[in-house]
Amino acid sequence: MIFNIDKWYTREKRLEQLEKHVSVTRTAKFGFTAYAESDKRHRVNRHFDTIATRYDLMNTILSGGIHYAWKRRAVETLMIKPEEKILDVCGGTGDMACLSAYRAGEKGMSVVYDINRKMIEQGKRKSIKGVSFVQGDAECISFPDEAFDAVSIGFGIRNVTHLETGFKEIFRVLKKGGTMCCLEFSKPDNSFFRYLYDFYSFRIMPLIGGLITGSTEAYIAFPESIRAFPLPGELRLILKDIGFKDIKIKRLTNGIAVIHSARK
Ligand SMILES: C[S@@+](CC[C@H](N)C(=O)[O-])C[C@H]1O[C@@H](n2cnc3c(N)ncnc32)[C@H](O)[C@@H]1O
Repeated sequence: MIFNIDKWYTREKRLEQLEKHVSVTRTAKFGFTAYAESDKRHRVNRHFDTIATRYDLMNTILSGGIHYAWKRRAVETLMIKPEEKILDVCGGTGDMACLSAYRAGEKGMSVVYDINRKMIEQGKRKSIKGVSFVQGDAECISFPDEAFDAVSIGFGIRNVTHLETGFKEIFRVLKKGGTMCCLEFSKPDNSFFRYLYDFYSFRIMPLIGGLITGSTEAYIAFPESIRAFPLPGELRLILKDIGFKDIKIKRLTNGIAVIHSARK
């Protein structure tokens, strides 16, 4: 039992996360559980309601602080210049928007765009200079076409019901020539490392999550959703089909996290 922890989806199963499958079956998965297509958004929102007050603390404990380095590497790929406008979709408590605001300077603009009010409230409590917060759905971003020089999305696209729609919206609000980065969890390359990571994800993480946030369930759905998500090469094809150019993939920490960077 303790050794049976390889839960990575096959390619066929991973493709069930894509819109084609969602629209045919009218179901969308969060973790390994399928919900009615129209319910996933509420389910995800409940998840973040439960963990919002401890979200930053949990990230730091569970990743040993390395998530800050990953976010820095992702924002670097945006090549932000002073006075630019940057949007952080699914921006949560604002870590990536904060890094962008610093680069864009006082005359720039850095916006966190997130559907969950409690996550936004936690972000606002950090009083990050130069960052503003807008509540809304990544599937219909409430900004006009070509409003931003750069758009980031960190650990967010997994939660969006219609993945391609989320990326199409990012593409729409980006200026021509603008940069995009998507930071997301993925499958470690090395099989022994992957075994340790699987053990940690399914045996240790839910225990710590349960103790600190009171929700073991939230920290079971979290590693599950990572294992069901398209791999980097698969995501690259989705981005290419939408129209992104110069797509680059950067694997971090043996592939636990991956940055897809691209240009419109
Ligand atoms: C794992 S958190 C990532 C937060 C932040 N980007 C970070 O890296 O720390 C995912 C965020 O996506 C948001 N989210 C989920 N579905 C969304 C949607 N459809 N539209 C906008 N935000 C969404 C959640 O509310 C949550 O704040």
